[in-house]
Amino acid sequence: MSSIPSGLRPPRSPLDPKVLITAVWAVALVSPRHGAASYIASPPPRSAMVPAFYVFGDSIVDPGNNNGLATLAKSNFPPYSQDLDPGVPMGRFSNGRVPSDMLAEKLGIKKFLPAYTDPNLELQDLFLGVSFASGAAGYDPLSAESAKVLSLSDQLGFYSKCMETIHSEVGEERASAIASESLYLVCTGANDITNTYFGSPWRSSQYNISSYTDLTVGSASSFLRELYGLGARRIGVFSLPPVGCLPSQRTLHGGPERDCFDPANEAAVLFNSKLSAEIDSLNKDLPGARLVYVDVYYPLLAIIQDPARFGFQVSTKGCCGTGNIEVTYLCNQLGHPETCGNDTEYVFWDSYHPTEVAYHTLVDQIFSKYAPKLL
Ligand SMILES: *[C@@H]1O[C@H](CO)[C@@H](O)[C@H](O)[C@H]1NC(C)=O
Ligand SMILES: *[C@@H]1O[C@H](CO)[C@@H](O)[C@H](O)[C@H]1NC(C)=O
Repeated sequence: MSSIPSGLRPPRSPLDPKVLITAVWAVALVSPRHGAASYIASPPPRSAMVPAFYVFGDSIVDPGNNNGLATLAKSNFPPYSQDLDPGVPMGRFSNGRVPSDMLAEKLGIKKFLPAYTDPNLELQDLFLGVSFASGAAGYDPLSAESAKVLSLSDQLGFYSKCMETIHSEVGEERASAIASESLYLVCTGANDITNTYFGSPWRSSQYNISSYTDLTVGSASSFLRELYGLGARRIGVFSLPPVGCLPSQRTLHGGPERDCFDPANEAAVLFNSKLSAEIDSLNKDLPGARLVYVDVYYPLLAIIQDPARFGFQVSTKGCCGTGNIEVTYLCNQLGHPETCGNDTEYVFWDSYHPTEVAYHTLVDQIFSKYAPKLL
């Protein structure tokens, strides 16, 4: 699977962790604060809408799972995270928080959803939710393999381990209630189109867009079935964004005018329509499943096409460096002199990822539209 150390530090409390964990809901109800263990100091708020929030996918929702991997798909150095407090672990692919954090906060859980492979992760974090997502992963297993990051099947393996831990702490009945009542988010697939299909000959020599999107939707469907098999029921699945309008795609394929790269957008639209149909069919097949297709394509396209309407000035290039191509290692301190002075004016932070403020605009829209369907 991978060489990631998943050794979890035991809870700091001198008390029996089992007692603590089974007592946590009661503690949350009876006494708002206790000093000792951090788990007790910050119990899941009474107002939390779900027991926990578990996230799978790629860099849009990866809070640092790639930090310990030998991959180029990393962001644990400045100017990434430039608008976060120094105490927040590095590894988010933006200037600030990412959608998994914002959704965890909206759910009433916490402001920063930690990475599952964070070396400081504690047992109690597993009970509130973590992100297994890994930058550059995709539904196509070749995306993670070629970038040397965690594939969706690696991520599912970690989730399964996480659930085994929860099971051994609280027993079968409580563990399966946690699994079925928690909220899940799956957000990936953009790398399949931009990198694995249009960015290399591996797939484009064998597949056309129609057959390639069949492959990736088939893989998405298997993943969702496996996740359901492990007990998940409420699952939000993000559509692909308008990948052809990412600054890097304009630079690489958009000609002298740096237009959006239409074939990539068309591939995304086709993928999305197949994914949405597949989700409808899974909902009919899988008893008790509440899978929800979450459109991010049109909301992000609206912001890109008319940034001023949403309070932005620039949507065709990123803030980091020249904004045309810098992402991961190319977006670094050396390119810093050119980095924009005010990232809140930009839709994109680097040539691939939105800024924190653009994510906020998107997540606000998405949450109000889809939360009622999922919760
Ligand atoms: C795409 O490839 C499939 C299978 O190889 C083939 O049946 C189909 O006609 C092709 N579609 C297009 C639009 O070329
Ligand atoms: C940055 O840009 C935003 C939005 O245009 C503006 O409200 C803010 O005042 C700017 N901040 C600075 C420090 O210039």
